[in-house]
Amino acid sequence: MNIQIINGPNLNLLGKREPGIYGSEGFDTYFSNLKAKYPEINLHYFQSNVEGELINKIHEVGFDFDGIILNAGAYTHTSIAIADAIAAVKVPVIEVHISNVHARESFRHHSMIARNCKGVIAGFGLKSYELALNALSEK
Ligand code: DQA
Repeated sequence: MNIQIINGPNLNLLGKREPGIYGSEGFDTYFSNLKAKYPEINLHYFQSNVEGELINKIHEVGFDFDGIILNAGAYTHTSIAIADAIAAVKVPVIEVHISNVHARESFRHHSMIARNCKGVIAGFGLKSYELALNALSEK
């Protein structure tokens, strides 16, 4: 089973960025631990701050893989282009957020992409990614 994790803008700074909101663990450490915990799953990771590169990655894996776990960062709230990319591909996409976006500023309450996703997980810190992985890998 091939699962792609995609992180959008500013998520390369996890661990350093607003640790009160996003925690102090970097994503690389979290990702290595996740891979070790689920050796039977082929987990892939991609991060970009560039909207078009996120779209290219969705296209690249969106017809062959078994699922995409997408944290589109702030593009979640703005990007019709990412929403269209999710609608265009075949594989299920789960929208994830580290923080509980609904407990934050009102501009974070709306997602442009959620309607095209299989489901949304938010507010569990980095564990949000593992919960999405469990949802995708359940038979
Ligand atoms: C985020 C929430 C977004 O509103 C924000 O722009 C991010 C991170 C999260 O994981 O909590 O960059 O997607």
